[in-house]
Amino acid sequence: MDTRHPMNTHFDIHLWMGRQLACIEDALSSWVSAATLVESGHHVHSDLVTAMRYAVLGGGKRLRPLLVLAAFEGVCSGLVQNSLQEEWLEEAARRGAPDQPMYVEKPAETALRAACAVELIHTYSLVHDDMPCMDNDVLRRGKPTVHAQFGQASALLVGDALQSLAFELLTPDDDCVSSAHQARLCGLLSRAAGHAGMAGGQAMDLVSTGQVLTELQLLEMHRLKTGALLQASVMMGAACGDATIDVQQALQTYGAAMGLAFQVVDDILDVTADSQTLGKTAGKDACQQKPTFVSLLGLERANAYAQQLKNQALAALATSGLSNTLVLQELTHLVVDRNK
Ligand code: IPE
Ligand code: IPE
Ligand code: MG
Ligand code: MG
Ligand code: MG
Repeated sequence: MDTRHPMNTHFDIHLWMGRQLACIEDALSSWVSAATLVESGHHVHSDLVTAMRYAVLGGGKRLRPLLVLAAFEGVCSGLVQNSLQEEWLEEAARRGAPDQPMYVEKPAETALRAACAVELIHTYSLVHDDMPCMDNDVLRRGKPTVHAQFGQASALLVGDALQSLAFELLTPDDDCVSSAHQARLCGLLSRAAGHAGMAGGQAMDLVSTGQVLTELQLLEMHRLKTGALLQASVMMGAACGDATIDVQQALQTYGAAMGLAFQVVDDILDVTADSQTLGKTAGKDACQQKPTFVSLLGLERANAYAQQLKNQALAALATSGLSNTLVLQELTHLVVDRNK
């Protein structure tokens, strides 16, 4: 079976993203809702759910969930290796006219759960990152930050609850996610979020304020605080599609370069973009004396470094052996060449 993208030359990433984003938004809205939480046996204080929905819905680029779904598609568009992929490809063939792209409109349940779980962890990290004890920001995703809107205690609890909910999504009571996938996805996500990932990187960030870091130290901090979760997004997508070890290794390298590039660009945009475009306060890093790639290298070299990392990421994709990495390639360009 020829499983290559039949419309490679006309592939429109924005069309692909529009479809996936609609599914992601729908899924997030239904999973972060009082009704779902009560149905599944939780007795939720509705104020907490209101604040959770405020944090999660109606904003955010959703890059991490898109990466999960893109990696899943990339892996599944290769050789048919198991029944999950067979089913997925059959569905794709059924849904699309012969001259239509192979991708399905609705992502598979496991991949969609993984995509939303990463977004919940990411959102929790933003809620806590903005608190007065950390970056002390009042604007996020174009709105007042959660603590500015609901108070600090609520912001703390929103973060806690979103973190738990992420793992609840990965471990549903029915059998829609296999035990093997549950274990692998929880492992990938918890490692990327914890002391050897995001939380550890945030701790480094806090103690580094006002310090001059070496390039190696800054690399390590960025890898942990931001890179780990982006890399995990790719690996979780790959896990949903049961990627081979070789593919996993290539995607690991890809995710590391792309994840680092993402934070280098975040550092650059803090200097070059305005608050309205970013939806968060621009110019905060210099103000708070945060060590960044711009403070270390200057704007021009930081930009060149981001491009170099993008090329490393694309090179890793090219060696992955996957037959169709078009979506991942396009997303990589969007992540690195973004303006917000
Ligand atoms: C911002 O992440 C925080 C960092 C890890 C640098 P995003 O730029 O992905 O934020 P949203 O999700 O689009 O708001
Ligand atoms: C945040 O890095 C990384 C997280 C884990 C949330 P930043 O502090 O640079 O993120 P922004 O610029 O506030 O979005
Ligand atoms: Mg921060
Ligand atoms: Mg911050
Ligand atoms: Mg930043």
